[in-house]
Parts: sequence; structure tokens; C-alpha cells
Amino acid sequence: MGPGRFRQLLGHFATGVTIITLRRPDGQPIGMTANSLASVSLDPPLLSVCVDHQTVLHDAILAAREFMVNVLAGDQEALARRFAAKHDDRFKGVGHRITPEGHVLLDGALAHVECRRVAQYPGGDHTIVVGRVIGGSTHRGPPLVFFRGGYAVLE
Ligand SMILES: Cc1cc2nc3c(=O)[nH]c(=O)nc-3n(C[C@H](O)[C@H](O)[C@H](O)COP(=O)(O)O)c2cc1C
Repeated sequence: MGPGRFRQLLGHFATGVTIITLRRPDGQPIGMTANSLASVSLDPPLLSVCVDHQTVLHDAILAAREFMVNVLAGDQEALARRFAAKHDDRFKGVGHRITPEGHVLLDGALAHVECRRVAQYPGGDHTIVVGRVIGGSTHRGPPLVFFRGGYAVLE
């Protein structure tokens, strides 16, 4: 099974779309579009996200104590594309705020899920990062969906 066929097969599993954000040790915010989010455990509350070894986020998330999962709303496709493409500064002109705890929250997200990194496991060319959910907030509205390599809005 080659990567193209794998991608095509798994593309039939519709997912939400998130942007994982955190702050680097130098304080700069960093973010990446990710749809590999999964709920892992209810008690304790754990989730996982798989991060490609080759991404800028990879080493940063393994160095960070905490990270934020911004679940994208239906009108945030442009943000999903921006945070999945090369950009000098992905945050420039993008509404966001940094909390006193150092969490990076994107404006207009459907949910903000605050995570403390508790474990990481090898997963092929990705690292499976497990976070304990320590807080969060939700907002009303339709979600952005990723399906068969394209975006859709679930009305
Ligand atoms: C819808 C969508 C979902 C993605 N999900 C993931 C993911 O779960 N994990 C991952 O490592 N990359 C994922 N990517 C790819 C990264 O967003 C992309 O490779 C990223 O821009 C890496 O570039 P960077 O190293 O400059 O941050 C996804 C891309 C898209 C468009």
C-alpha cells in the first residue's frame, strides 16, 4: 500500500479540522493544521494528535509542557489552509490571543481544548502525542470538516 492509496482510503473517514498551537521557548507562537486528533480516554481525560517528524511543530510540541487544540468553525477554511502551507508568519493578521498561562487561542474557533503533554509514542513517520485535557471552552456554530481531501461545512 503506497501513501497515495492510504491517503485516499483514510480520506473517506470524515474528520473535524484543528490547529494545534503553542509557544516556543523564545515565546513565539507556532501553529499547524491537524486532523489526526482522537479522543483516547475519559478518565483521565486524554486525547492524541499525530505529528509528522518533518514538521516545525514536531520538536516544539515535544519541548512544550502544554499545547492548545483550536477546533475550527465552518468559516475558517482559509485558516486551515494557511496553517498547512509555508508562510513567513502564519499568525500575522490572524486574530489570536495569548493567555497569561501562555496558551495561544485563535479567535472564532468552535472550541479551545487546553492540553498538558503527558506521553509520546513512535508512530511510523509521526509521533503520537498524548495530552491530558485540563480545560477548555466551546462556542456555537457549524464545524469545518475534512473529507476526501477537501473541506466542507457541516450545517
Ligand atoms: C486537513 C489537514 C490535516 C492535517 N493533519 C495533520 C496532522 O494531523 N499531523 C501532521 O503532522 N500534519 C498534518 N497536516 C499537514 C500539516 O498541516 C503540514 O504539513 C504543515 O503545514 C507542516 O508544515 P510546517 O512544518 O511548516 O509547520 C494536515 C494538513 C491538512 C491540510
